[in-house]
Amino acid sequence: MKKEELVDLLQEMTIEEKIGQLVQVTGEVFLMDNIDTTTGPLKDLNLSNKTLYQVGSILNIVGSEKIRKVQDEYLSKSRLKIPLLFMADIINGYRTVFPIPLAQGCSWDPNVVYHCTKVSIKEAGSAGASVNFSPMVDLVRDSRWGRVMESIGGEDPYLGQVFAKTMIQAYQGEDISKLGNVAACVKHFAAYGAVEGGRDYNTVDMSEREFRQYYLPAYKSAIENGAEMIMTSFNTINGVPASVNQWLLREVLRKELGFKGIVISDYSAIEETIAHGVSKDKKQAAYRAIMAGVDIDMMSNVYANHLKELIDEGKVPEEILNQSVMRVLILKNKLGLFENPYGNIDEEREKRILKSEENLQEARKQTAETLVLLKNEKEVLPLKKNQKIALIGPYGDNIAILGSWSIFSDKSKIQTLKEVFEKRMGTKNVLYAKGSEILREKEINQILSADGGNIIHVENEEEKENEYLQQAIEIAKQADTIVLAIGEHYRQSGEACSRANIEISEIQKRLLNELAKQNKKIVTVLFNGRPLVLKDISEKTDALLEVWFPGTEGANAIADVIFGEVNPSGKLTMSFPQATGQCPIYYNHYQTGRPHISNIRFASRYQDIPTQSFYPFGYGLSYSKFEYFDLKISSPKITENSFITVSIKVKNNSNRGGKEVVQLYIQDLVASSVRPVKELKGFKKEYFEAYEEKTITFEITVDMLKFWSEKLQYQAEKGEFKIFIGPNAEEGEETIFELV
Ligand code: BGC
Repeated sequence: MKKEELVDLLQEMTIEEKIGQLVQVTGEVFLMDNIDTTTGPLKDLNLSNKTLYQVGSILNIVGSEKIRKVQDEYLSKSRLKIPLLFMADIINGYRTVFPIPLAQGCSWDPNVVYHCTKVSIKEAGSAGASVNFSPMVDLVRDSRWGRVMESIGGEDPYLGQVFAKTMIQAYQGEDISKLGNVAACVKHFAAYGAVEGGRDYNTVDMSEREFRQYYLPAYKSAIENGAEMIMTSFNTINGVPASVNQWLLREVLRKELGFKGIVISDYSAIEETIAHGVSKDKKQAAYRAIMAGVDIDMMSNVYANHLKELIDEGKVPEEILNQSVMRVLILKNKLGLFENPYGNIDEEREKRILKSEENLQEARKQTAETLVLLKNEKEVLPLKKNQKIALIGPYGDNIAILGSWSIFSDKSKIQTLKEVFEKRMGTKNVLYAKGSEILREKEINQILSADGGNIIHVENEEEKENEYLQQAIEIAKQADTIVLAIGEHYRQSGEACSRANIEISEIQKRLLNELAKQNKKIVTVLFNGRPLVLKDISEKTDALLEVWFPGTEGANAIADVIFGEVNPSGKLTMSFPQATGQCPIYYNHYQTGRPHISNIRFASRYQDIPTQSFYPFGYGLSYSKFEYFDLKISSPKITENSFITVSIKVKNNSNRGGKEVVQLYIQDLVASSVRPVKELKGFKKEYFEAYEEKTITFEITVDMLKFWSEKLQYQAEKGEFKIFIGPNAEEGEETIFELV
C-alpha cells in the first residue's frame, strides 16, 4: 500500500476501529468453537464481540494452521479487513531450541548469535510470527534476578550494543517483508535489569548518569539498527512506571533517540500502574499511557475500555490516537500484510523447516561455542572415549535443559547426556546413577504452588534420597572419573524467578560432598540460568563446565566439548559472585575513595569474602594455552581528530588449535565525574593453530573515550587513560596514553 492509501484508510476508520488497532489479545479466543464474550478470557477483559473483531494484534499464537484460522475468522467479520499482526515470544528458538540468550552472549561471537537467531526465526517465521518479542538487551548485574538468563549482553553495555545490532539484523534483514524475516521488538525499556535487590518487577531508581552510561546504550543500538518495536518495562524508573513515563518515552525514546516505530506495553503493565499507585483507576492508567506514548496495550483492557471516553471528553486529542494507529498500520504495511495477510506461512514449508536435521546440526555447532570452561585442573578434560565414567546427577538423564522460554519447543528427540555418552563410549563404559533430585519436594512445591495447583508429592522422600545417594557412591567406586551433571531447576530462572540464595540446592550439595570423599576425578557439568555461587563446587571438582540451559542439542554439544572434538572458547558475560551477598557485582564499577587494594581496615570491602568476583567477567578457559605479551602503542598521545593503535602478541602455547577472545579495556584515570575502573571497548575472537603467534591490533578513537561528564555532557576529557588487553577483565598487559 502507498502512504496515501494508509492515510485514506485511517480516515475511513471509526474511533472504535482506531482504538482496536492498539489492543492486543490472545488468539485463543478466535480458536474457540463458540466465541462467547460472557465467560472466560473475554469476560475478564470486558470485550464485546464487536471490539474483538476490531483488535489489531494477537499474542503468542504461532503455527501456520492456527494463524490461518485466526486470521480468516477475524477477516471474515471485520469491516475494514485490516489484517491482524501476530506477535510471539521466540526467545531462543521455536521448535529447535538454542542456548538461552545469556549463554549465546558468552560465545563473544556475533556470528554465533546471528546463526542462533536466524534459525529460530526461520522456523518461527515459517509458522507465521510477524513480530518477535526479542532481543532482550537489559543490562544485568544482579544474578538474584531470574531474568538475567534472557540478557544477550550480560553486564556490559558494549557487548549489549554489539549483540543488539546482530540480533536486529538477523530478525529484520534488509527488508522485513521478505521470507524468513520478522519485525523485532527490543525490550524491556528501560533499565528493567536494575530492579532493586534483584527482585522481579521491583523498583528502579538510578541517576541519569548511570542510566545513560550503562543502561541506555544497548537499546540505542537496537533502535539505530532499525528495530521496529520496543516494549516498555514493568518497573518504575525514578518514581514513574516505564509504561506511563513521559520523560522516558517521549523525551528520551522519541525525541532523543529518534525512535519512529511502535511502543508496546509489557503484559498488562498499563493496568499495573494502578497497583503502583500512580493511576487511580483504569481510565487514568489509559490516559497516562497514551499520553506518555505507549501505542499498543498488551493484554490489559484499558485502551479497549477507556480510550473512547477519553477522546470523547477531549482529554486525549484524536491526533495522539491517530499517530499511534498510523504506526501500527505502517508496520502491517511494511510486513506486506495488506497484500498477504498470512505473511510467511506455508504449511508444507513449515513441516520441512521445523526442527530439520540442518537446524539441529546448526544448533549443535553453535551451542558448543556458548559453553564456558571454568576450571580444568591437571587437564582432566578432554575425556577419553575408552575410559570408564560414572555419570551421576539429576541432569545426567534429563531432557529439561531448554530453559524457561521454550514454550513452543518440540521436545521429542532431545537426547540426554546419558544417551549421548553411551553412543560415544559404549554402554559398558558409562555407569549411570541419578544421585539426587534437583530440589526436594518442599522446595519444588514452593515454586509450583504459585502456579495455582500442580504440586507434587514424593512418597518416602528421605528413603529415596538415601537410596539415590548410595547408588551414586557405588558406581563412583567403579570408575576413575565422575561426570557430575547438576544445577538449577529450569523453573528457578526466568521471569518471576528471583532467588535470595543463588547456590545449588542442599540435596545436590550433599551429593557432591559425598562424591568428593571417593577420591575420584570429578568433572562437574553445570546447568543453570544465572551466575551461581560456585566456591564449594569449584573447590570439590577438578573440572567445571558451565553449560547454562543449552537447548535441544545441548547433550551433543556438551559431549563435543567434553571429548575434545570442540575446544571450548566461551567466556563469561557476567561476573560470578563469591557469595550471594556480593550481588550486584560487575567488573565495570566506579572507583571509590577507599578502594580495597591492600589489607587495610578502612577500605571498601566485605570482611568475610574477597572483594573481586569468584570468576570475573570475560573469563573462560580453553584446552589451548594462550599467552599475552609485548603490548605496543603507536603513539602515547591522541588528539581530537586522530586515532592510535594498540597491539599485543598472543601465542597459543599448546599443541591444540583453539579460539581466544582478546579483550580491550580502557580506564579514564582522571575526569570531572567518577569513571569505571575499566570498560570493555573492543574484542576479537580469533582462531590460533597449535603454537601459532599473532599480533592482535585495536584502533583507539576519541569516541571510545566519551562519557557523561559532571555536567551530563557526552564528551571526552583531556588527560591520561590506561589500556588493558587480556584474556578477561582481571588479567592482561597495560599501558598509558594521553588525550591532548
Ligand atoms: C514478559 C515479556 C514478554 C511478554 C509477552 C511478559 O510477562 O515480561 O518479556 O514478551 O510477557 O509474553
